[in-house]
Amino acid sequence: ERGKWIFFSAAPLKNHQGKVVGSIETLQDVTEQKHLEAQLLHAQKMEAVGTLTGGIAHDFNNILQSISGYIQLLLMRKGDDGPDLDYLDQIDGSIQRASELIRQLLLFSRKVESKLRPVDLNRNVVLVQGLLTKTIPKMVNIELHLAGDLKIINADPIQLEQAMMNLVVNARDAMPDGGKLIIETENAVLDEEYCKSHLGATPGEYVLLTISDTGSGMEKETLEHIFEPFYTTKEAGSGTGLGLAIVYGIVKSHGGYIMCYSEPGEGTTFKIYFPVLESEVIEEVPEPEEVEEIQGGDETILLVDDEETILDIGKDILGQYGYTTIEARSGEEAIDIYEKEKDRIGLVILDVGMPGMGGHKCLRELLEIDPGA
Ligand SMILES: Nc1ncnc2c1ncn2[C@@H]1O[C@H](COP(=O)(O)OP(=O)(O)OP(=O)(O)O)[C@@H](O)[C@H]1O
Ligand SMILES: [Mg+2]
Repeated sequence: ERGKWIFFSAAPLKNHQGKVVGSIETLQDVTEQKHLEAQLLHAQKMEAVGTLTGGIAHDFNNILQSISGYIQLLLMRKGDDGPDLDYLDQIDGSIQRASELIRQLLLFSRKVESKLRPVDLNRNVVLVQGLLTKTIPKMVNIELHLAGDLKIINADPIQLEQAMMNLVVNARDAMPDGGKLIIETENAVLDEEYCKSHLGATPGEYVLLTISDTGSGMEKETLEHIFEPFYTTKEAGSGTGLGLAIVYGIVKSHGGYIMCYSEPGEGTTFKIYFPVLESEVIEEVPEPEEVEEIQGGDETILLVDDEETILDIGKDILGQYGYTTIEARSGEEAIDIYEKEKDRIGLVILDVGMPGMGGHKCLRELLEIDPGA
């Protein structure tokens, strides 16, 4: 069982002649403080790793996007054969893989905007269950225990499903000889008492998702690192160690709380708390419409961006679809051009973050020149 931390102090007890006649000894149980300290250190470490990863991933993403843009242009220009086409396809494939890795890192570091909407978690569990027949071998029995009166949460359904899949795949990997996978949902309340001893938990109403397996379980040493990106005990090539890091990022960006209980040989249980959506009015959000084939056109477009690369790529791609472009490298320049050419310009594509007046101010001035812009 968990040991106890005891703080011990002793001081001499003297009589009025200054002679030591005894001692005062104090014993204090500081187990709780020790646990909180460890949780705090862990939270700080995760925060630091998140900031670092997020920064690198964000910058890398921009670089990748510009490489990818130029490759797309080259691919569009090439005929159907030609010796370079194969190489370009290979490069394009590598860029896709790099982008996927970056996307996962951004998910961990919460740099991806979640598209939150009212969600009935049970529905996502059932959807995920539908995917499991392909992922989970027959020797693993899957049990669902879904609460009938489950409250609604504010969540990004795609991220929810990704988090569940990552947990379920881990459970599968922990049960190579078969076992039981249980997915449960229920309403839960976290009270002050619980939150005092669980750093990062906030009192309130939650929907609790529990995913347990009867697999190998984990040593304490492993358990301490599981949420860190690139931490894996799997052999090279079979795991990148991003699964739980992503789950962690997703839970955090939903304002939730995640716990893991595990004992070697006893299996593993993950508990995730998602805050209940407070508002009573729940509107049905329409499913996004299907993307239509790009039509192209012959209008003139004013492109405003301080990044030469973006202007270049934008001009080229819009050009391929028949548009004429005028480029501006700042909000100020855009206003000048717009004043002279507004009859010719059918559309303005405006970057928000630019040095100088910036996109928002620029937009306001454009609307002053022409309220229909
Ligand atoms: N259900 C589980 N049972 C036992 N160990 C687990 C379980 N889930 C995670 N682990 C341990 O935590 C480590 C990290 O898990 P994580 O999902 O982040 O990475 P991974 O599964 O190794 O690789 P990836 O998910 O990127 O393919 C695993 O390597 C494993 O040691
Ligand atoms: Mg995994």
